Amino acid sequence: MTEAIVGGLLKSNMSDKSMITSSSPSPPRREFMAEKFDIKTFKDNLEVLKRNDVIVLSFKPFAFEQVLNEIKEHVTEDHLIVSVVAGKTIAQMQSILGKNRRVVRSMVNTPALIGEMAGAYSMGEYATEEDTEVVGQILNSVGIAY
Ligand SMILES: NC(=O)c1ccc[n+]([C@@H]2O[C@H](COP(=O)([O-])OP(=O)(O)OC[C@H]3O[C@@H](n4cnc5c(N)ncnc54)[C@H](OP(=O)(O)O)[C@@H]3O)[C@@H](O)[C@H]2O)c1
Repeated sequence: MTEAIVGGLLKSNMSDKSMITSSSPSPPRREFMAEKFDIKTFKDNLEVLKRNDVIVLSFKPFAFEQVLNEIKEHVTEDHLIVSVVAGKTIAQMQSILGKNRRVVRSMVNTPALIGEMAGAYSMGEYATEEDTEVVGQILNSVGIAY
C-alpha cells in the first residue's frame, strides 16, 4: 500500500520525490522504496515525523499499538496522521496519540497499485477542512475516494 500511495503521489505530481520519505524496519523494503522511487528512507519512524507534516501509517494491524506508542511523544499539532491500517479506528488512534491530534482513518484496497482504487476516508474531530482536501488529493492519486 505504501508503494501504491508513493507511486500515486509522484505520478499525479502532487508531491516531488524530494519531499517524500518512508520508513520500515526491513532493509530490503527500504532499498526497494529508495531504488524504485528515488526517495529518502529510514529505519527509524521518528525520522519521517521530523521531516514531514503529513504522515501515512501503512503497516500491518498487529504493529499498530507498537508504532503509535513509539511515535506518540513526537506527534504534534502540526502533523496530520492518515491511517490506512485495516480495522483500527479513529478512537483507537486518539486514545494513544491524544484526543486533540489531527487524525484520519481511510479504507484502501490493492487496485490502488494501478490507480483504480475505490476507497473511503473519515476525518477525526480535530482535522481541518484543509486536511480533508489534502487526504482527498492523496487518495484520489490512486483511484477514487470519498
Ligand atoms: N493490501 C490491501 O489490499 C489492503 C486493503 C485495506 C487495508 N490495507 C491495510 O494497509 C496496511 C498495509 O498493508 P500492506 O498490504 O501494504 O502491508 P505490507 O505489504 O506488509 O506492508 C507493510 C509494511 O510495513 C512495514 N512495517 C512493519 N512493521 C513496521 C514498523 N514497526 N514501523 C514501520 N513499518 C513497519 C513492513 O515492513 P516488513 O517488510 O519488514 O514487514 C512492510 O514494509 C495494512 O494495515 C492493511 O491492513 C491493505
